[in-house]
Amino acid sequence: MNRVVVITGASSGIGLEMARQFAAGGDRVYALARRLPDSVAEPSEAAAGSWFTMPLDVTDAEAARQAVTRIAAREGRIDILVQAAGYGLAGSVEAMTPTDAAGQMGTNFLGACHLLGPVLASMRARGSGLIIQLGSVAGFLPIPFQACYSASKAALAALTMALANEVRPYGIRCMLVQPGDTRTGFTEARVLCDADESLPYAERCRRSIARMAADEQNGFPADRLAAKIIRQANRRRPPLVYTPGLFYKLAALLSRVLPRRWVMAVLYGLYAR
Ligand SMILES: NC(=O)c1ccc[n+]([C@@H]2O[C@H](COP(=O)([O-])OP(=O)(O)OC[C@H]3O[C@@H](n4cnc5c(N)ncnc54)[C@H](OP(=O)(O)O)[C@@H]3O)[C@@H](O)[C@H]2O)c1
Repeated sequence: MNRVVVITGASSGIGLEMARQFAAGGDRVYALARRLPDSVAEPSEAAAGSWFTMPLDVTDAEAARQAVTRIAAREGRIDILVQAAGYGLAGSVEAMTPTDAAGQMGTNFLGACHLLGPVLASMRARGSGLIIQLGSVAGFLPIPFQACYSASKAALAALTMALANEVRPYGIRCMLVQPGDTRTGFTEARVLCDADESLPYAERCRRSIARMAADEQNGFPADRLAAKIIRQANRRRPPLVYTPGLFYKLAALLSRVLPRRWVMAVLYGLYAR
């Protein structure tokens, strides 16, 4: 399709699969990643000529601005931004240190904000563009022992919806993707709050994280999820909120219509017992 697609968190999982599939479809992909393993640094034959890499830690606002400015100057436009960089912080809220919380929000929420300013300026100048934000089911069903992760995704969801109305007159669209369990490097990369072992939550927290990890590793394959997201992105009017999978669509619906205490009871039974 020859669009210019910029993707953060492209070294692994959903970001990497989306980068590969956009490139295979003929788009010019800028794979932005904190580290550049061979899978990112060397494109497949299919992607040769349409695959470019740049190092980027999204917590570095100035580096993000420079990366976007370089791409916009080189290509003359940015058609799609995919914000997939993120990680999970697990542990009780009581155990969470200010550093834990700042790291989680700094990557999952502020990291996304860092790219938005310069990318929106470029898209607004051309009167078109699509912003794809990787939220999570946890953004609307807050998960115990992953409270700050859930909060970071809820914040991203609110930001994305408010942003959508701000940029609507300029031809820019936003799509908040809210995946459920997906098999990626996310499980292994999860960061744990250290103090939990010394607190009474320890056993419940361990059980909760073990369940979450098992669900993720039995979850949806990242390449199939990427294909679903790209199919939505290619629609003439991409949806503002996209929750892939029937089960999670149903969960989203029920979380809105059922009494809050029922929803909380289900979450307790699944992740807090
Ligand atoms: N897997 C799931 O079940 C699931 C469910 C719902 C939502 N999500 C969301 O989907 C997104 C992609 O996650 P994934 O499942 O594909 O996990 P993943 O395989 O661990 O990929 C996460 C990516 O984010 C990158 N990243 C983390 N911190 C970064 C930073 N400071 N700067 C730049 N890149 C950074 C990682 O880079 P490094 O390789 O350098 O660490 C990696 O490329 C995340 O936002 C996640 O919250 C995942």
